[in-house]
Amino acid sequence: MFTPPFILSIAGGGSTYTPGIVKSLMVRLADFPLAEIRLYDIDEARQSTIAPVVEKVIRDHSQSIKFTVTRDAQTAFRGAHFIFSQMRVGQYKMRELDEKIPLKHGVVGQETCGPGGLAYGLRTILPMVELIDLVERFADKAAWIVNYANPAAIVAEGVRRLRPNARVLNICDMPVAAMRNMGAILGVDRHKLEVDYFGLNHFGWFTRVRVDGEDQLPALRRHIAKFGLLTEDAAQTDPQHADPSWVKTWRNIKPIMDNFPEYLPNPYLQYYLMSEQIVAHQDPDHTRANEVMEGREKKLFAAAQEYQSTGILPDAFHVGVHGAFIVDVACSLAFDLRQRHLVIVENRGAIANLPYDAMVEVPAYITSQGAEPVRMGAVPLFHQTLLMQQLASEQLLVEAAIEGSYEKALQAFTLNRTVPTMVHAKTLLDEMIEANRDYWPALKKAWQEGE
Ligand code: G6P
Ligand code: MN
Repeated sequence: MFTPPFILSIAGGGSTYTPGIVKSLMVRLADFPLAEIRLYDIDEARQSTIAPVVEKVIRDHSQSIKFTVTRDAQTAFRGAHFIFSQMRVGQYKMRELDEKIPLKHGVVGQETCGPGGLAYGLRTILPMVELIDLVERFADKAAWIVNYANPAAIVAEGVRRLRPNARVLNICDMPVAAMRNMGAILGVDRHKLEVDYFGLNHFGWFTRVRVDGEDQLPALRRHIAKFGLLTEDAAQTDPQHADPSWVKTWRNIKPIMDNFPEYLPNPYLQYYLMSEQIVAHQDPDHTRANEVMEGREKKLFAAAQEYQSTGILPDAFHVGVHGAFIVDVACSLAFDLRQRHLVIVENRGAIANLPYDAMVEVPAYITSQGAEPVRMGAVPLFHQTLLMQQLASEQLLVEAAIEGSYEKALQAFTLNRTVPTMVHAKTLLDEMIEANRDYWPALKKAWQEGE
């Protein structure tokens, strides 16, 4: 364990999430003392736009924390104890293509699910490994990378294969955001909930939601049958997930549970179980990436500009569960708190009827040595089958990236539930190869045409 105060680096310093994460760190300084915060990004212009906002957030709480902004890896990671990673390879411009290319062909267009997620995975695996290597080279030998970078399931599998011993903990705020809403519905703070959950990232189910030892899933089921996973007035959700498209996503828990009431699904299952309805409601010319660029991103950039010219920082970013969760996880790693959190971790029997080495999302006790997964037992055949198909798609994608295999990429696309046929898979893959020329590893065909 390290002795506080810590040196923390944020990789992807220019992210729209950075000010919110830093604000979360500032309100938790007593729990997680900091000597220095470093922002690291390869996009210098973007990072230097966001940096003054971040500095202001820090100075409102502390005069003593050193603040460093850099695009030099050695400066960013030298002696660092914790690295929060949130890189977005290709930024929102490429997210837009991940969403729009499939939609043009009548297939779900989404950041992390379906062909868009697979494309994003092919962009991110190798840069993530590069980051790990830089951290290993410069940071404290016992440093932890806490990783939010998406698509988390694929990134986690890529890291497991390529850097199995790296001290990386992959996390996602979706389960905790769902718990935030559950708490609002039940009228209890989310920290009072103890959940059981099994699945892969963005592909899993809550099986139990205990409050003071009593399972509240029956009460939630009754509420969801009317309103989905939102309070009736939708007013109490996290600001991070409050845009109309997110409200619709929370409401869609209802139709899924109308059919399969046993467990409470991760909201992302809508893309796999209701693909047609999702596509019918998506605008192929204006997707979530556009909403984010015109909303969250624009608002933050405008605030940065206003702060620069007036010295007053408008309220322009959220401090929701996203920031709180990564700080919770870091505290548990730093001080061996053994808190129970949902994280992405090698299965090792936690889900008895999934492969031992699958990267699964389950509750785990977070110690200074990492995550100790909790046993969720065997899952029903229906869920197991859905999970196996998704896992195979994601594992083949990772193999495609590592081996540079066109065939494996095509198999990954074909196996994804959002992709109706082999023909769709090939059309999408070929178009995405073109769109991702600057980012993807080369994919070669083992059998050339005519052979
Ligand atoms: C949730 C997920 C993240 C995802 C984000 C997208 O928080 O857990 O993995 O990146 O939603 O939200 P956005 O507002 O960018 O569409
Ligand atoms: Mn996520």
